[in-house]
Amino acid sequence: MAASLWMCRLRPRGLKGALKSLENGCITPQSKHSNSSAAVRSEVDQRKDQTDTTAERKPFYVLQEERLEQAERSVLINCPPKTNEKKFLKHLSSHGEINTCFFYESFGTYAVVEFSKKESIASLQDGTIIPSIQHEATVPFKSRLVSLKLNNPDDLSSVSSSIQCLRQSAIPINELVQKLSSADTIDQQLYTLTETYQLTEDNVRLRFLVCSLLKDIAAAYFPECTVKLFGSSVNGFGKLGCDLDMFLDLDGISGRNSKKTAGPFTLEYQMKRVSSERAATQKILSVIGECIDQFGPGCVGVQKILNARCPLVRFAHQPSGFQCDLTANNRIAIKSSELLYLYGSLDARVRALVFTVRCWARAHAITSSIPGAWITNFSLTMMVIFFLQKRDPPIIPTLDQLKGLAGASDKQLIEGHDCTFVSNISRINTTENTETLEQLLKEFFEFYGNFKPSVLNNMIHITEGKEQSKPDISPLHIQNPFEQLLNVSKNVNQTQLERFVSLARDSAWILQQDGMSHPLGAGAQPWGLAALLLPSASQTGGKGKKRRKREPASERIKSLLESLKNSKPNSVNGNGKRNFSTQSH
Ligand code: GTP
Ligand code: MG
Repeated sequence: MAASLWMCRLRPRGLKGALKSLENGCITPQSKHSNSSAAVRSEVDQRKDQTDTTAERKPFYVLQEERLEQAERSVLINCPPKTNEKKFLKHLSSHGEINTCFFYESFGTYAVVEFSKKESIASLQDGTIIPSIQHEATVPFKSRLVSLKLNNPDDLSSVSSSIQCLRQSAIPINELVQKLSSADTIDQQLYTLTETYQLTEDNVRLRFLVCSLLKDIAAAYFPECTVKLFGSSVNGFGKLGCDLDMFLDLDGISGRNSKKTAGPFTLEYQMKRVSSERAATQKILSVIGECIDQFGPGCVGVQKILNARCPLVRFAHQPSGFQCDLTANNRIAIKSSELLYLYGSLDARVRALVFTVRCWARAHAITSSIPGAWITNFSLTMMVIFFLQKRDPPIIPTLDQLKGLAGASDKQLIEGHDCTFVSNISRINTTENTETLEQLLKEFFEFYGNFKPSVLNNMIHITEGKEQSKPDISPLHIQNPFEQLLNVSKNVNQTQLERFVSLARDSAWILQQDGMSHPLGAGAQPWGLAALLLPSASQTGGKGKKRRKREPASERIKSLLESLKNSKPNSVNGNGKRNFSTQSH
């Protein structure tokens, strides 16, 4: 499609009937309480709602600032398991008006409490005591992670039998498969998967709160620093339970943007000098990592991984249950997150397809939480984006087209890389493409299932939305959108790529079979997407796996075929409905 099709068309769009559940990449309290039939809306409605909401979506950086400010007014409180919620809130409101409060479980019961004003935090901290512990000592670092103690444990009026704890983790895959099996269409299945797995409103709040707690620790050294979130916590593609990618931003301090003062003199700070930007980043992260380890309440298993391409400190934040990666000097990664957020905001099908492909890849161990030669979620997302750019007409614009729509304030050069692209979503035209998610899912698997050696000589390039010749011999080359000399899938080896291609081919084939596009029975029989998510033997691991690397998928197909064959006339049950094998292989 010609670039001009995406060109600027500023137009007013109303707020009516906004689909809150897909807004800003997380569900809101409204949709959280909706029942499942309401949650599974018709594709047409969803597409329409999506069209209505894009204009109301705030630019990425505005949303981040709002969330961070919200987090600065919040505290995390470890509560006794049967805290009386009413009394608890009454007690806390002596420090000021409370905006929101919710409870969750993670090695204990916790409450996230957001006050209306930041002064309430100072008041609460003023009234918080340092614990006196026998035989041990404490490091007196005052944070916004506190514990609620009952002054009189025998006072039964301070306890109640039930606090409603909100879930912060994704449902197991077998429950998801069941849920998907009761949908009516493959499109509904993809939307249901997205709604089930995406980050909830309270999970996003908790993520920003942990980020803000980290900032308090880093501020002990660098009072003007900020800690920002990037990656799937904010790019709209985060699944409940995904890691927390943080970035220590010292730009406010480093004087990158400072101007010389007028007059005859300028004062400058005396600072230690190091050999490179990378060395400075390593030193800063080393010190902050030490602080997190020594003083950070709830932070455990701190590892300083300073020699990585992107140095980082990795740790677990026990009170939230998040696995955290803290980096520094990583502004390009934030731009990548903003770009993905923008793509996910343009059309509801983008997020639905990315969530689905990520889930499918995880179910078949194409991706892994352990670093290695596997395809990463980030690479998979780029593959989906590339595929959607290549549809006819395209569903999303290329990065070059987004650059063409950028305004003066969008111009950004980071470390010599042009990271300019439009931030105002309403400047981007909606697509004319009306393909269903079912079609797109099938085509996605066909597209990548047909990755042939000749195609493999090409690299995936979302800047132009078309293949280009690979500059190296790595099996899969996905060009980093902003650091164009980097390959985001450099880690992927031939075996892993072949597994991906082979599974994509098998999945395309499965979806073409009779009975795969619609539910055939009243029971929770896996069909469509649900059938594609059935765990394969490849995950059972064990010896001999290498020799039989294509066997698991073929076995699964064999079984599905069997069940399809068996479900033909003679296996139609009493209700006129067919049966499928639900066994995993
Ligand atoms: P999850 O698997 O849900 O955590 O997805 P994620 O997108 O958060 O991926 P991950 O935590 O691995 O990385 C966080 C962010 O770092 C990504 O969203 C990218 O912006 C960036 N990133 C990840 N991998 C690469 C890479 O290989 N190259 C570059 N340049 N950036 C990467
Ligand atoms: Mg991540």
